[in-house]
Amino acid sequence: MPVVGVIGLGTMGSGIAQVAAHSGYTVLAMDMDERISKQSLASMEKRLRDRVASGKMKQEELEGILRNINIVSSFQQFSRAEVVIEAVFERVEIKKEVLQKISDAVSEHALIGSNTSSISITMLSGAVRQPGRFIGLHFFNPVPVMKLVEIVKGYSTSDETVSSAKEFAISLGKQPVVVSDFPGFVSNRVLMPMINEAIFALMEGVAGVEEIDTIMKLGMHHPMGPLELADLIGLDVCLDIMNSLYSGFRDPKYRPCPLLEKMVNAGLLGRKSGRGFYTY
Ligand code: 3HC
Repeated sequence: MPVVGVIGLGTMGSGIAQVAAHSGYTVLAMDMDERISKQSLASMEKRLRDRVASGKMKQEELEGILRNINIVSSFQQFSRAEVVIEAVFERVEIKKEVLQKISDAVSEHALIGSNTSSISITMLSGAVRQPGRFIGLHFFNPVPVMKLVEIVKGYSTSDETVSSAKEFAISLGKQPVVVSDFPGFVSNRVLMPMINEAIFALMEGVAGVEEIDTIMKLGMHHPMGPLELADLIGLDVCLDIMNSLYSGFRDPKYRPCPLLEKMVNAGLLGRKSGRGFYTY
């Protein structure tokens, strides 16, 4: 089976690795921090075992997924990958360093994707030797559940790469949608100002956390309220995205809500830290 590389095994990277392995790819998965690799594999296995226990997945399926995932520890091992996806921490310098190493390791035909949620693909493409083969592959949390892959075409991305990226997303059982490289792409340009506005409404005392979430769930049929969703995404990630929109458009309408900044500074990052707008 074709080989897919995933670098960065946080929530998004491990979700992508799981979905690729479930779709029959041989997955080479790597995190700079070996502990994260182990933890991420252990929590994936636990989630899958729960699904088997509740009759939602067959034991053989679980075994197939786990068999297809190989934890690796050097970039050279990506030389046989056809697709490599970077899903590391959302910082330009870190992403560029990782992308450069991927680019040096892979064949010239490999597709290199970044799961960035808001950093410019064109800017990141400066770090790779093959900018025509580089593209945004933006997955959504939780990756095994959410159907969309937002495919972001950078300035130098070739049309052939766009076609390969679409085929790859479809092979994972996802629906690709292609967009141009603009701050926040489409998803986060629309979603994050809504979340930010909900935080302003909370800060200004318009309503409480549960009231705001209930209004959006029952009035707008959203599966989660914006504050609950911010906790799922991570408040630090929401703040990074608002800052990308603010600096990318240079428009004050995207300024991050001071309460969001305050909560991030206080270490209230949502589910992953045990506390955000809710306590977990
Ligand atoms: N990993 C894997 N599977 C998960 C999961 C997780 N973390 N959380 C839930 N699931 C699965 C469950 O196993 C269940 O699967 P099943 O139907 O086969 O049994 C299914 O999702 C539904 O789960 P639940 O019944 O427990 O709960 P809900 O019906 O409340 O659904 C939800 C949970 C799917 C998270 C739903 O609330 C939802 O869709 N929320 C909105 C999520 C969203 O908007 N995500 C996008 C965030 S933005 C983003 O990621 C972009 C980034 O750049 C910021």
